[in-house]
Amino acid sequence: MAEDCPTEGTEPITDIQAKDGSGIDWWSILSDRDFLKNPYPELHRLQELGPVHFDSSNGIYFILGHKAFARVSKSSAMGRDTRNWAGGWNSDDYRQYDPVGFKLFSEFQPQMINSDGEEHRRMRKVYEPAFRAQAMSRMVPLIEEQATRLLAAMPDNGEVDFIDAFAAPLPLRVLCELFDVPESLDETISRWSASLIRIGDILMTPEQKLEAQEALAEFKDFLRGQLKEREGRSQDNLMGLAIQAHKDGTLDEEETLTNLVSMLVAGHETTVTLIGNGMLLLLRHRQELARLRGDGSLMRTAIEEFLRMEPGGNMILRVAREDFEVEGTMIPKGAPVIGLIGAINRDPARFERPDELDVGRPANAQFTFGGGAHFCIGAPLARLEAQIAFSSVLEKYAHIELAGEPEWRLDRMNARGLGHLPLRLRKAA
Ligand code: HEM
Repeated sequence: MAEDCPTEGTEPITDIQAKDGSGIDWWSILSDRDFLKNPYPELHRLQELGPVHFDSSNGIYFILGHKAFARVSKSSAMGRDTRNWAGGWNSDDYRQYDPVGFKLFSEFQPQMINSDGEEHRRMRKVYEPAFRAQAMSRMVPLIEEQATRLLAAMPDNGEVDFIDAFAAPLPLRVLCELFDVPESLDETISRWSASLIRIGDILMTPEQKLEAQEALAEFKDFLRGQLKEREGRSQDNLMGLAIQAHKDGTLDEEETLTNLVSMLVAGHETTVTLIGNGMLLLLRHRQELARLRGDGSLMRTAIEEFLRMEPGGNMILRVAREDFEVEGTMIPKGAPVIGLIGAINRDPARFERPDELDVGRPANAQFTFGGGAHFCIGAPLARLEAQIAFSSVLEKYAHIELAGEPEWRLDRMNARGLGHLPLRLRKAA
């Protein structure tokens, strides 16, 4: 490791509280309740100070500019393998400092998002067939059936919590169908997923780490049982791909289990957030809602615009594999880099009227699904689910309005989503 790496000799990541050289107290800002309720004014203020910031108190580089993140996310010099992070989750220093965190991150490590190069391609290739266009076409009837079932249970005229009644159960059921997991397990999977998604927050309390560790162990045990039970059966689904890859030696057991867990976690709450946040955006921009109702062909660009304006996850991690210069800042090998997507997606240097919803926005280069080699493998599924979700809700209901204050979940730093979205609905004649 280069001795000029700024992370060496500093406190491990969980102790981050201090300010950077310019007086910015990054972690206080990013975890502040008012920021979590509405991060955009603060993100714009920070962005005006520059596209790349270095937090000298802990050696993290924050990227807020679109042009800078486009380079960082796509360069092979910037990886995602956390084992290259000097002083990070997989280091010996961290093992000494936080054995619980070290165990959790080590057990969650062997998966595609935490690897680079050939190792990453080997794992990613196993799952790619499940997200190709042909596989997506086969998913359409299943998603439509689930959306119709949920809508049938909602009142024709009346009030509902849109998150509980529709946005949350739809992606969970679709994922469980993809994995061929029975509905009776939806609640358990949802609980595991809620504990594990916090790993993306970077800052976790010791209790949250223990809870995540328990969830991970239970989840892996469950999947181990599923793999055994299904051995020898030919299956045309994600579980089938995993079983085959394990059998032919492409993936070892830990890689098989961790990638499956991660896929369920990565694909669940993110899609709930897209559907919930998208609905709130439409209700707060009623002209755009009317425009979308009047021209269904705008649905595809509308979904991209929801993703741009409310990305849910605000942080995308990279670790420098070699020294890398961006916008005049030299990022040294081994340093962690965090792209703040809420700022990047609203960079006025890239987007006209960045804070306005435009359901027909052309060339929408949002970074909500990341970029480069790690670009979200599940993006085609998330987009398809959202298109079917919004088309079917708008078709059933001629009138939708807020029935109370929407409630943002304020207990997560990197999953900005709604806990509750009370709606008043009236069915189309
Ligand atoms: C709106 C929904 C979703 C959002 C916003 C989202 C976002 C992301 C982001 C930001 C990344 C990291 C990209 C990077 O580092 O450059 C990612 C990777 C990933 N996502 Fe998603 N995701 C969503 C849905 C899904 C779904 C439905 C699945 C699977 C069922 C999924 C599975 C994955 C996996 C396996 C990776 C790792 C890919 C790799 O490392 O090659 N995601 N996602």
